[in-house]
Amino acid sequence: MAEELSEYSKSQLALRNGQDKPQIWVAYRGFIYDVGESRLWKNGMHYEHWAGQDLTEELQEAPHSASVFSKFQIVGKLKDP
Ligand code: HEM
Repeated sequence: MAEELSEYSKSQLALRNGQDKPQIWVAYRGFIYDVGESRLWKNGMHYEHWAGQDLTEELQEAPHSASVFSKFQIVGKLKDP
């Protein structure tokens, strides 16, 4: 049976911005991904975007699709406000 994913609020996510806590997390379409292993998200920064937030809208401006998330682990779900 699939394990339930933990839910995190926006403010909990905000602490995982690569500055305040060691984790580097990004939310996309309700799921939170751990991008801490990525060289491209070092210190929480990725081409003028900061980790620790929901970047669903911002992905539309990226030169790549959401397939970039495929190699990263989902660590939780973003709690509805
Ligand atoms: C306009 C801003 C952005 C630029 C110029 C940009 C550029 C890039 C480039 C060049 C790569 C590596 C090559 C590739 O996979 O295509 C990459 C990877 C990635 N991007 Fe972006 N990106 C942008 C915005 C975003 C946003 C908004 C997100 C999150 C929603 C995001 C998430 C990722 C992830 C997770 C990877 C994979 C990192 C890895 O494999 O280590 N990017 N991006």
